[in-house]
Amino acid sequence: MLDTPRHASAPSAAISPAIEAIQIDGDRVAIAIAGRQARFSTRWLRLACECETCGDTASGKRWLTPADVPADVAMVSADAGKNELTLTWGDGHVSRHGSGFLAAHASGAAPRFAPKRWNSDLAERLGRFPFEAVVEDDAALFGSLRALRDHGIAMLTGVPAEAEATARIAGRYGPIRETSYGKVFDLISRPDARVAGETARAQIPHTDEPFRYSPPGFIFFHAIRSGAGAGGTSLMVDGFHVAETMRAATPDLFDVLTRHGVTFHREHAGEVFFSAEAHVISLDATGEVTGIRFNDRCLAPQAAPIDRIDGLIEALAEMTRLICDPANQFQHQLQPGEALVFDNQRVMHGRTAFDPTLAVRHLRSCNIDRDGVHSAFRTLARRFAPLEAETVLYQGAIF
Ligand SMILES: [Fe+2]
Repeated sequence: MLDTPRHASAPSAAISPAIEAIQIDGDRVAIAIAGRQARFSTRWLRLACECETCGDTASGKRWLTPADVPADVAMVSADAGKNELTLTWGDGHVSRHGSGFLAAHASGAAPRFAPKRWNSDLAERLGRFPFEAVVEDDAALFGSLRALRDHGIAMLTGVPAEAEATARIAGRYGPIRETSYGKVFDLISRPDARVAGETARAQIPHTDEPFRYSPPGFIFFHAIRSGAGAGGTSLMVDGFHVAETMRAATPDLFDVLTRHGVTFHREHAGEVFFSAEAHVISLDATGEVTGIRFNDRCLAPQAAPIDRIDGLIEALAEMTRLICDPANQFQHQLQPGEALVFDNQRVMHGRTAFDPTLAVRHLRSCNIDRDGVHSAFRTLARRFAPLEAETVLYQGAIF
């Protein structure tokens, strides 16, 4: 169902601005297109050829390599049609580039998605999507994927309060990741708690499993029974908002968390021993925040030179203070039939303590791989919002 052919509704095919003029200047080609001037490298234009002989990079059936295109590749002629540029090369090869494709690459920078940050005001903006619609209708599923892209969190409503519904709805978003705790797990308070989620204690908002090289991408919390009236309120925090708050108010501490390797660990003796050293705040190639990993309960004793260790601890302390500030928290008590799905490399989740003698709190939870969710988004964007399909999304806690 999600297998739309790559070029079926690509923006380059759907939108064809007119090519107004071209001019060759050494190894550059200037093209006036859609009212603006763009300059392309001839080497780039040759390498961008996706004819049958050169092959297609998206499908991976690609036969031309970067090494096949010399720095001084010879272009013999360039002919502009209204919506297509035809280039003839010194070896007789002919490349054709559509005007939509050229316009999309005219700026020299990939279009990037800017996340919509939130604090306690999420209540008014949180996307809510009915279970039946998301299960049956790709347009509704796409709406919720868009909300996940924008805010990193969405709510599903009307989810049957039965075990099978968890995997049924989560599976719409991508393959469920099996971990050492299983595929779908039940979070119920129990006296022999193996993880903190099984206790009734409060939890500071955190990302799950930062001790993995690749932490869970998206998390589902499906409420079967709530601890209504007895605590157990979910606390959700936008890590991107917290990071930008730090960047503005305490840039030195922000800097520490984007550069210093912090170690998170988890050990169950004789069974598992995970340990990962990574940045708490991941930046992308342009310096934008692209991912968060933070869990106070998994912080190993940190390592840093003596003149830097206190600065690192202060950065971790400031992060914790911001996360615990109610002004940064969306607070909600999940009701049976509600499910929260959120980006575990952006949105932190916690909860207030509850009294297990007053009410049983039962959530079912599972993890979906991050690139699986983004793949579902892009695939459906080809159908429902072609201009959004190729935007670079924030890629998570990459380091
Ligand atoms: Fe957790």
